[in-house]
Amino acid sequence: MPSLWDYPDFDAHEGVHLFSDTGSGLRAIVAIHSTALGPAAGGTRFWRYADGDQALVDALRLSRGMSYKNAMAGLPLGGGKGVVLAPEDGLKSPALLAAFGRAIDSLGGRYVTAEDVGMNDADMVAIRGQTRHVAGLPVAAEAAGGDPGPMTSLGVFLGIRAAVRRALGRDDLAGVHVAIQGVGSVGGGLAQLLAAAGARLTLADVDADRAAALAAALGGAAVAAGDILRVEADVLSPCALGAVLNERSIPAIAAPIVAGAANNQLATPEDAARLHARNILYAPDYVINAGGIINVGMEYLGHGDRAEVEARVGQIPGRLEQVWAESAATGLPAATVADRIAQRLIGRGD
Ligand code: NAI
Repeated sequence: MPSLWDYPDFDAHEGVHLFSDTGSGLRAIVAIHSTALGPAAGGTRFWRYADGDQALVDALRLSRGMSYKNAMAGLPLGGGKGVVLAPEDGLKSPALLAAFGRAIDSLGGRYVTAEDVGMNDADMVAIRGQTRHVAGLPVAAEAAGGDPGPMTSLGVFLGIRAAVRRALGRDDLAGVHVAIQGVGSVGGGLAQLLAAAGARLTLADVDADRAAALAAALGGAAVAAGDILRVEADVLSPCALGAVLNERSIPAIAAPIVAGAANNQLATPEDAARLHARNILYAPDYVINAGGIINVGMEYLGHGDRAEVEARVGQIPGRLEQVWAESAATGLPAATVADRIAQRLIGRGD
């Protein structure tokens, strides 16, 4: 059994906190990667982990990703992540959420949570009963904050437009063919924005009915989930799971651009080089998918309104351009360049 410091995913995290509460059955981890730029912010995942070890690895990886994402989004926030191990019955009881809220509060504001996989805005309201260090709460229409999905969709849409401009030399998306893997909260919103801009869509989801219904509504096509990565499109947009870009999938990708919302799209660091070697323009995931954290981060910080959030989301294409330009100048893969810029921003670079 390795010590925490020997885990491959341990990256000089400032703090890794294990919480348990016998009354409610809570077992949770909060990993704080860096507070160099501000309180460590990142959502909480509620997941049925095989064991505590798997949950710890997830918390370590995801919290570092949040440091990079928040730094690249220009937010005065560090990076952290919460994971709650789903109990045997799979239920998020009020007592469990309250215990998790108290756990977050005990960190005194060093960690700020919001929703992630398995958590929704009602859960954030429950947590808010115990701590003020939570965002992603329901808000008024003109206010910053609330469901991060729509702002993530907007950022990915703007990032795709920038990628199309760079790789295909086109200023508009009319007739540009985008294949979207996963049409849930973010992928579904993205499909709507792309359809409104005149793009041609091919959609896939493990929930085949969902993809078919959206394709019918937007005038696109639906394909089986297993076929989407190989579609001959201009843009492949992974908006479902992580690790979809790997040794097996990359050789079969037919699109010259990969730009989507899913977190941790690259299975390994070597996959950044594999994409680069194939001359595929890759939008690093945590740069293009920062719209949601910009939205909830500004809610927590009490900065500005929805228009201000949209203005900041509008800066995502410029950050991607910076990464692509440095990638072209140095010959390094875009993902490697993004990591280096983020590390410099949090004071860990060379
Ligand atoms: P969601 O759960 O609403 O949607 C995911 C969709 O992908 C579902 O419709 C699901 O059926 C589908 N799916 C799952 N496995 C699939 C597969 N193998 N092939 C095709 N479809 C599959 O999740 P959401 O919120 O839309 O997030 C999507 C991705 O974006 C996740 O990786 C998430 O971590 C990431 N992300 C989400 C943000 C947000 O604001 N919601 C912010 C930043 C990243």
